[in-house]
Amino acid sequence: MPVREGPVPPFPPGTDPESYDRLRRRVLWKMPSGLYVVGSTDGAQRRNAMTLNWATQVATDPKWLGIAVERSAHTHELIEAGGVFSLCLVARDDRAIVRRFTKPVDVDLGARTLNGFAYFDGPVTGAPVLAQSVGYLECEVRRPVEVGTHTLFLGEIVNAAFLADEDTPVLRMEDTRMSYGG
Ligand SMILES: Cc1cc2nc3c(=O)[nH]c(=O)nc-3n(C[C@H](O)[C@H](O)[C@H](O)COP(=O)(O)O)c2cc1C
Repeated sequence: MPVREGPVPPFPPGTDPESYDRLRRRVLWKMPSGLYVVGSTDGAQRRNAMTLNWATQVATDPKWLGIAVERSAHTHELIEAGGVFSLCLVARDDRAIVRRFTKPVDVDLGARTLNGFAYFDGPVTGAPVLAQSVGYLECEVRRPVEVGTHTLFLGEIVNAAFLADEDTPVLRMEDTRMSYGG
């Protein structure tokens, strides 16, 4: 999909597209969200991890979770190939981790590290999970929904676990000075 130049429609009647675009972005950035690391694999040797905040549970029965992933991301390619992903909850004190997963990742399959952070393969899906996570969810993709720039991967939760004390505060977008989308 070609990248659009300028503000994205629609615009409410009577508004200036440029200033409405800035206002809409500020409202979108104000939406509270978590901040996670998503693990992916092609089902063979390839592994990856990326920072993501567009994640939410989408139903209680079945237990489905949605994550929106840029079509240009390496993660997108791996999730399409492997049909699985993990969602890692990061401790608030570990906020530096998410900065490390916003660029291409250095994978060491022998040492089992991603950018130097230890990982293990999720026991059900094989998607990598950061060992430092507070907890994680493993998902099998049931329905990929293409939405312009991103694909909303709707996955069924096939495993969930804590790796640290359940009371450990987890990272949210507002704990950082980062933003995404808008
Ligand atoms: C705070 C923050 C939140 C992000 N949230 C998302 C997201 O929800 N979805 C997404 O596709 N990319 C998101 N990104 C961008 C990816 O982390 C970035 O494109 C990454 O390099 C993709 O990695 P990959 O190409 O190795 O898969 C976010 C980036 C930052 C800094």
